[in-house]
Amino acid sequence: MSSEYLVEVKDLKQYFPVSTGFMKKTSLKAVDGVSFSIRPGETLGLVGESGCGKTTVGRTILRLYQPTGGEVLFDGRKVTNSNITELRKEMQMVFQDPYSSLDPRMTVEDIIGEPLDVHKLYSTRAERREKILNLMELVGLNAEHARRYAHEFSGGQRQRIGIARALAVDPRFIICDEPVSALDVSIQAQVVNMFEDLQKQLGVAYLFIAHDLLIVRHISDRIAVMYLGKIVEIADADELNDNPQHPYTISLLSAVPIPDPKITRQRKRIILQGDVPSPMHMPTGCAFRSRCRYATEQCARECPSLADRGNGHMVACWNK
Ligand SMILES: Nc1ncnc2c1ncn2[C@@H]1O[C@H](COP(=O)(O)OP(=O)(O)OP(=O)(O)O)[C@@H](O)[C@H]1O
Ligand SMILES: [Mg+2]
Repeated sequence: MSSEYLVEVKDLKQYFPVSTGFMKKTSLKAVDGVSFSIRPGETLGLVGESGCGKTTVGRTILRLYQPTGGEVLFDGRKVTNSNITELRKEMQMVFQDPYSSLDPRMTVEDIIGEPLDVHKLYSTRAERREKILNLMELVGLNAEHARRYAHEFSGGQRQRIGIARALAVDPRFIICDEPVSALDVSIQAQVVNMFEDLQKQLGVAYLFIAHDLLIVRHISDRIAVMYLGKIVEIADADELNDNPQHPYTISLLSAVPIPDPKITRQRKRIILQGDVPSPMHMPTGCAFRSRCRYATEQCARECPSLADRGNGHMVACWNK
């Protein structure tokens, strides 16, 4: 029997070998024991500062990297045992930069048609063309522009092309890696709303990666907060917003603007001390302790693991 989850990530580790001088090698723990699950049609938001390992989580799930440890199950099957082509029919990725992720010398038709060709998803040229035009319409692109080149489109339109391309194989899961970060603020909301509409229509599940909690909060059913290769808190989006537990989540939330000025005044902005430590020189114990005002001796000794505080609200903190 298949489980209630579409995607299950279990204790995933991705270490990169790096040299630190002549004959000296160490490993950079980009992802260090990450676990979460995503239900069919659900959106899990993944937030955290630059370099905390969000993209690496996405790429490892997609098998663009061989994991150093742990496993990923898709529909109950181990991703590492699956055929890569079959996997690409089920899981797709939309990338951050719509300028570099699409070949500017290809036409929209070629870009969206490529996955249809790879997976042989049509029997006649007419069917291929019809599918491409339908996909363009689905993402709000003018089908008359099918023969135009990617470089002729704006950032927002290019991201729509990237989404149409991801949707071409009719996947059940899409990893959206900061899909609106490179876009003008004025069009970010439009593209986020499109992701939501597509989900309602198609029932696709998302891992929605962003460093901006405001965007993630809007689109996600649940949110996972990541800090230096680990998830420090995971909860329903509303619960995380109303009742954050981890000091890192609280500081991230304190930076999100609130439309109600009364609440803004009440909610003090928490500015973290210090910088994010280098993943090459991680503090002992809890990775966040060097910036945490509640840190104790225990935090220096041992890394807290994620513990359920009820209703699936998981927190990794000794003091909470
Ligand atoms: N192929 C690689 N080889 C070596 N180190 C890598 C590689 N890819 C990522 N890293 C390192 O792993 C860590 C996590 O990187 P990653 O790109 O996953 O972070 P991120 O959270 O996506 O950041 P951003 O918000 O900037 O996109 C960083 O320290 C990065 O330098
Ligand atoms: Mg990234």
